[in-house]
Amino acid sequence: MLNGIGNVAYLGASTLFILSLRGLSHPATARRGNLYGMLGMLIAVAATLMIAPDVSLVIVLVCAAAGAAIGALLAQRVAMTQMPQLVAILHSFVGLAAVVTGVNSYLAPVAGLSGAEQVIHECEIYLGALIGTVTFAGSIVAFLKLQGTIGGKPLMLPGRHALNLALVALAVVLGYRFLTAPSLQAGLLALLTMIVVAGLLGVHLVMAIGGADMPVVVSMLNSYSGWAAAATGFMLDNDLLITTGALVGSSGAILSYIMCRAMNRSFISVILGGFGTTKAVSVAAAGGEVIAASVDEVGVLLRDASDVIIVPGYGMAVAQAQSTISEITRQLVAMGVRVRFGIHPVAGRLPGHMNVLLAEAKVPYDIVLEMDEINDDFSHADLVLVIGANDIVNPGALEDPASPIAGMPVLEVWKARTVVVSKRSMASGYAGVDNPLFYKDNTRMLFGDAKASVDALLKSLAV
Ligand code: TAP
Repeated sequence: MLNGIGNVAYLGASTLFILSLRGLSHPATARRGNLYGMLGMLIAVAATLMIAPDVSLVIVLVCAAAGAAIGALLAQRVAMTQMPQLVAILHSFVGLAAVVTGVNSYLAPVAGLSGAEQVIHECEIYLGALIGTVTFAGSIVAFLKLQGTIGGKPLMLPGRHALNLALVALAVVLGYRFLTAPSLQAGLLALLTMIVVAGLLGVHLVMAIGGADMPVVVSMLNSYSGWAAAATGFMLDNDLLITTGALVGSSGAILSYIMCRAMNRSFISVILGGFGTTKAVSVAAAGGEVIAASVDEVGVLLRDASDVIIVPGYGMAVAQAQSTISEITRQLVAMGVRVRFGIHPVAGRLPGHMNVLLAEAKVPYDIVLEMDEINDDFSHADLVLVIGANDIVNPGALEDPASPIAGMPVLEVWKARTVVVSKRSMASGYAGVDNPLFYKDNTRMLFGDAKASVDALLKSLAV
């Protein structure tokens, strides 16, 4: 009877998780998506406690309360620009949980298993612990790199691909020894040795990847954490964990693919590392004259424009300029100006970064357009305001085949009548590439912190 109710609850929770993912795909429905996810998780935990035998409710509740308190504290403190490292550390917990569950399942075997069933169960334990360890170790390194605790430069050991292959081969040999172990102790030794080997593999894989590819690696580790959870689900014979793990695993893989495509990078080249190592490259000696503009001059340009497109980038997030930009948008719309936003798929440091910030600042969703929706409209715009963006508006990506970001689709802002770029200096962006946009005749550089610049711009509009 309890099992029946539990299964129905699991089905309900799975449905809520799918609805949650669907909701999270658009800012307008993201809150609802989050609520579905929370409700699904509540049902999942309650149902698991209900059907699980010999569970101490007190221990579970104490652990859940401690976890919830730490989670709530972290979520309140973390800045939007630190999200990638928060996500990385959370993935490490999923990996660790898979490893601990695997070792525990081996030490406390399910009664009544024999023959093929026993072998399958041990394969699940081994695979769960293997993927879990790689996820755990890789996520810790990703966290340390993103946090700046260790350098972002890739570690390029000689023969690193051979080393990775050797570690994988060793894990396979240990897997054979684990499955054919004559005693629990021998099996445990093989399992623990594999955990050390997989840990080295996880550390080395991520150490070899440069800072610029880190967000893709985080999303890939997200995918791994899902597969580790799915393997744990098989281990524990828990259908909900299998479904949830598969959802996380496949959505992480799809996201990694989308990010790679938006940066014109092949998934394999990201995994094998190396990008982000090149020093700032001068694109076809971009050079030329840079025309700086004052806030008042930009104010005049804005007043004269009837069609304005705003392109936000990572600098807007760092400067926290989104609220003032939203206010400027309201003013311009009230003055009869058509204002839209153009969002590049990898603007900022994580997928949807800009959309979330603009939504928080109450910019209406219907004027926030994706790159493909707005790229043809730049040639009709009177003014494009680029706020703290760089790589995503770099014409070198299309014009210079030697550029490290050659082939990356970009927002073609230079086609507008005038482009104003708000940034602090001539420094390059994340990819470390010089930007010929800054030297074009129709570009005006508005130097200074983006927040200070747009605050002053808002004042000049009010006069
Ligand atoms: P970036 O190319 O990194 O450029 C940001 C610019 O903001 C910098 O050139 C910087 O110039 C400026 N800036 C920083 N702080 C500022 C402040 N307080 N006020 C004004 N400007 C400030 O950013 P982007 O154009 O958004 O491109 C994103 C990059 O991240 C791409 O290379 C992309 O491939 C990479 N990436 C993103 C993702 C996702 S999913 N979003 C994933 C992987 C990689 P100054 O120092 O001169 O101010």
